[in-house]
Amino acid sequence: MIRETKITDTTLRDGHQSLLATRMKIEHMLPIAEKLDSVGFHSLEVWGGATFDTCMRFLNEDPWERLRTLRKAMPNTKLQMLLRGQNLLGYRHYADDVVTEFVKACVRNGIDILRIFDALNDVRNMELAIKVTKEAGGHAQAAISYTIGPVFNDGYYLDLAKKLVELGADSLCIKDMAGLLSPAAAYRLVKKIKAKLDIPIQIHCHYTSGMAAMTYLKAIEAGADIIDTAMSPLALGTSQPATETMVATLNETDFPTGIKLEDLNGFASYFKDVRAQYKEFDLSKGIVDANVLQYQVPGGMISNFMSQLSQQNALDRLPEVLDEVPRVRADLGYPPLVTPSSQIVGAQAVLNVLAGERYKLVSKEVKNYLRGYYGQPPGKVNEEVRKKIIGDEEPITCRPADLLEPELPKANREIGSYVQKEEDLLSYAMFPQVAKKFLEDRYAGNTLVDFDILKTAHGSYYPFP
Ligand code: CO
Repeated sequence: MIRETKITDTTLRDGHQSLLATRMKIEHMLPIAEKLDSVGFHSLEVWGGATFDTCMRFLNEDPWERLRTLRKAMPNTKLQMLLRGQNLLGYRHYADDVVTEFVKACVRNGIDILRIFDALNDVRNMELAIKVTKEAGGHAQAAISYTIGPVFNDGYYLDLAKKLVELGADSLCIKDMAGLLSPAAAYRLVKKIKAKLDIPIQIHCHYTSGMAAMTYLKAIEAGADIIDTAMSPLALGTSQPATETMVATLNETDFPTGIKLEDLNGFASYFKDVRAQYKEFDLSKGIVDANVLQYQVPGGMISNFMSQLSQQNALDRLPEVLDEVPRVRADLGYPPLVTPSSQIVGAQAVLNVLAGERYKLVSKEVKNYLRGYYGQPPGKVNEEVRKKIIGDEEPITCRPADLLEPELPKANREIGSYVQKEEDLLSYAMFPQVAKKFLEDRYAGNTLVDFDILKTAHGSYYPFP
């Protein structure tokens, strides 16, 4: 039986986030936008994740303007984004009023599909974003953060999938940020979920360990509906498998893509040239990182360790840090290593090694984590460690955002005079320092990327060569 496989191209989000430190500018997206829009992809992942922060912090681009511009340039294909549940696109929990208004604004400005995840797989941190997405008319894709460890058997994932479907998820994503999902495990897991739940399944793998293209093929054989890929110059390494490779492969199976290989001509040369313009941010350290298989940490974490340790003149302690990561992770109840838990675990592992005594120095984030402010970890926290760090303080057990007062009124008092549109207030509520500088600069007349000038300069938004 022939069953079509759908493709989400991630070049304009995860592709450059994974390989070029999220630095791709709108001016390198627009010339190719019309052509991307004409391929017939299931969706294009173009926004969310780290792109929002980077736009304001480094690129002098209004992230909302980027979204509206991309929407206009690509009217025919669904646009997709990545959202960290109650953390939105930031690194802490935001109050419900911020989450509600932010999600509504995403849909209003052009996002069709929101992929929503939580670093601890605590569904209470995802439920509001799922609910508001649906109310606003968007497609709520709930993501399972995939990892391996003592608590993560198929039963764990199946339970999680059921809960997400009960919350109203329109589709599920198995999100493998570290490249740990093996072909055999993917086959088994997709089979089991499909046997129990009638819902589309999308697979999101990073190539880091070298398994991802094989994993996709096995997941599709087991019934997966959609895969994430990036155009070859921004694929592989810590990014996704290549779009061209998967289309060529799948079109010879019973799970063809509906996309002709020749329709992908031209993208490789275009993005090869684009990538060459971001050499200083090019993080790639080769195609396969065998450390990932051994240490089971995302590739990005290892490069973070290297830069943190070299600042302390302690690069020689990298092996100790890599050994410490799984111990910290076990103490914290096995959080999947994805933003922000990967940073929390990683920074603490470095502290434990450099301080010469475990948990002698403890980050604020680890304290808050042990107080329950990030939600319920998948496994049991090491109570001795908890006691050493927060003493007799009783951790919270409620949904963390239940303790947060509305945040928009305060944001409005603080930044109201610089706000030109409702979305500016949301930018500020998420990233106060970065957005304040950005909005003040704009107010002072400092040049932002001018989307209208881009349009004139190119004659149109999309003069594909
Ligand atoms: Co990703």
